[in-house]
Amino acid sequence: MSDISPTVTQEIICAETPAPPVAMVVFGASGDLVHRKLLPSIFELYGRELLNAGFYLIGCGRTQFTDERFRTDAADAIRETLGGVSSDVLNRFVAGLYYVCGDYNDGSFYKAVAVKMNELDRRHNIGGNRVFYLSVPPPLYGIIAEGLGNAGLACQVPGCQNVCVVVEKPFGRDLKSAVELNQVIQKHFSEHQIYRIDHYLGKETVQNIMMLRFANIIFEPVWNHNYIDNIQITVAESLGVEYRGGYYDKAGALRDMFQSHLLGMMSLVAMEPPSSFEADHIRDEKVKLLRSIRHIDPQNAITDFVRGQYIAGVVDGKPVPGYRQEPGVRHESKTETFVAAKLFIDNWRWFGVPFYLRAGKRLAVKNTEIAITFRKVPHSMFVSAGLPHLPPNVLVLQIQPKEGILLVFQAKRPGSKVCIGTLRMQFAYSDIFGSVPPEAYQRLLLDCMLGDQTLFTRQDEVEACWRLLEPVLQAWENQSTMPDEYKAGVENFPKADMLIESDGRKWRSLSAI
Ligand code: BG6
Repeated sequence: MSDISPTVTQEIICAETPAPPVAMVVFGASGDLVHRKLLPSIFELYGRELLNAGFYLIGCGRTQFTDERFRTDAADAIRETLGGVSSDVLNRFVAGLYYVCGDYNDGSFYKAVAVKMNELDRRHNIGGNRVFYLSVPPPLYGIIAEGLGNAGLACQVPGCQNVCVVVEKPFGRDLKSAVELNQVIQKHFSEHQIYRIDHYLGKETVQNIMMLRFANIIFEPVWNHNYIDNIQITVAESLGVEYRGGYYDKAGALRDMFQSHLLGMMSLVAMEPPSSFEADHIRDEKVKLLRSIRHIDPQNAITDFVRGQYIAGVVDGKPVPGYRQEPGVRHESKTETFVAAKLFIDNWRWFGVPFYLRAGKRLAVKNTEIAITFRKVPHSMFVSAGLPHLPPNVLVLQIQPKEGILLVFQAKRPGSKVCIGTLRMQFAYSDIFGSVPPEAYQRLLLDCMLGDQTLFTRQDEVEACWRLLEPVLQAWENQSTMPDEYKAGVENFPKADMLIESDGRKWRSLSAI
């Protein structure tokens, strides 16, 4: 196999729109997501001069911090995540951070936030644009939304662009709880103020699915059941549940990854072309697609969805514990850490094309990719040269960690007259654009501040995903058996292999990136 690297022939300057004057309030401010993702991403936006000079951030939580202690904590977290940052810039940034401590169930907490915001809005010259970020366990979403509403913090100030609330996934645990949660939040915030975050949508390579499909003419004619044999979407992680055992054990791979990231990527790959890049035009098409996925009946919920749980093994040459030995995980836990499924879309474009989706923790490598395998040529004219079957073309959208695109095709090799080889034409973002793409949270946080909901999930999308998965949740709940085990460090969950092999196909090898 050989690599052919394309180059950018037309340089397009894409200037980012900077955020308007805005204040941000982060609930759960001493949590890990805030340390590893939010604060470093906001700091990078600051460094890129995309935040307004008046920007300020209030951290909120139960931990007893002063403003000064929160600043030190934030600076440490930023340094730890980003490495060598300028102390000068960091000191200027953290000077705009404040802290309010309180109990989420206590109305006076939100009143204290309101008082602090009124004072800081004046000092920082912010006219009332506000982003409330809920980086807290899901059961607190409704409680905080209610608290903000009762303290008058959800109201849009006349003349201001945006007061919004950002909610992390999973949004609900099933259809019923997602509807109920939405009702609570919508008592105070309307849909255009609610930003349901799925950080996968902020990844450059996930956004590129739309550019690739709809900014080129060559893919659309073959993007259907006439030319495509199957589509595989994989999110493989080498990490385990880390410090998040408590949360993860109540969620599992189906709720944590499948309901959001996997179905989100599937809808972008398979949706019809939206008429414009407007948030609702795109989201309308995604919902339409999600609603066209074939209903999963109780039998298919068992045969077409397989789940596994990792046991102790070796990853990257190091021994790692099994899932049930991880901190925060119940010793008798039945929670799945791997899920694989086969789905069909009942519409003209995709009729009969299987979509194989899988997500798992503690696998041999980290790799997220979407592999589109085309049908084989209908007839080989190279039979006499010993090639009765030619391998299919495969287009791989490499989401991470090696962001790029790969096309596998056949071509003449130098040598005898009929000598065919499989070539890989590949481009890597880092080779062409010089650096790794920015962290997804930067894009998403900036979009919240700008009031752009394109990359956020609308309530009807959330509901369509839960509705689809209801029979699986039900079937798994009724099963008394444990999920099958897989050894940490394996390339794939053996039952996932069986799922696809029973159709005469194979998963693309994770190490073939
Ligand atoms: C999160 C999940 O949404 O995505 C985690 O809750 C998972 O369990 C993470 O590890 C994976 O994100 P990424 O960007 O590392 O692929």
